[in-house]
Amino acid sequence: MPNRQLFDQLRATAPQISVGVLTADWMSLGTELKLLENAGVKLLHFDVMDGCFCPAMTLGAPLIKGAKTPLLKDVHLMIDEPLSKVDSFVAAGADIITVHAESTRHVHRLLQVLGKMPNANDPNRGLIRGLAVNPGTPLESIEPLLGELELVLLLAVNPGWGGQQFIPSTRARLARLRQMTGDSILLGVDGGITRDNVAEVARMGADIMVTGSAVFDGKAPLENVRFMMNAIGK
Ligand code: DX5
Ligand code: ZN
Repeated sequence: MPNRQLFDQLRATAPQISVGVLTADWMSLGTELKLLENAGVKLLHFDVMDGCFCPAMTLGAPLIKGAKTPLLKDVHLMIDEPLSKVDSFVAAGADIITVHAESTRHVHRLLQVLGKMPNANDPNRGLIRGLAVNPGTPLESIEPLLGELELVLLLAVNPGWGGQQFIPSTRARLARLRQMTGDSILLGVDGGITRDNVAEVARMGADIMVTGSAVFDGKAPLENVRFMMNAIGK
């Protein structure tokens, strides 16, 4: 079981938003990150896509390593067969490393391997092992894995793009998941989180809400992030 310091911190400060960088202005990523820091955001969500697990290709470990920020690095791996690749993302400074239940035949072993890896930023911080589940994946399938993870990330969209609509069945899935896990595991919701639903999703019991294009909309990121933080009482 990894060190619990980071888990306890996230549990105590929930709910939090984790802001996705996919639609940020990458030509001035440093400025965008400063904007999030100054707004009190604590988590930065990196969507890693390989073009095989889902259609798009996005970013890899070098960009995550190169992002100089005090924000916690929340790395969402939408890649096939991640077992041979997770060490590069942990070495790049992931604080949360989330793998998909659908991305490998040996997800239990993958989580066991992750449970032995130190947090490269600070060995005392611990590494949060996340398991992501697509909208079509039955929650029963993750029951045998609950002892090998610290976070379950419910995809509220089908992985591959930002800016999609929140899938309504996510509400019932989140309630069912909380029944399965109690407070022993952090629950996250990823995709389609906007000004209109962020407060509701927080009320539904999500500890971490991933939001990308509702913040980095190309127009008013500072106003957007302040709205979202305010909406969840931060
Ligand atoms: C989807 C990604 C999400 C997405 C969130 O595959 O995992 O993190 O980028 O973006 P929005 O908030 O725009 O739905
Ligand atoms: Zn994501």
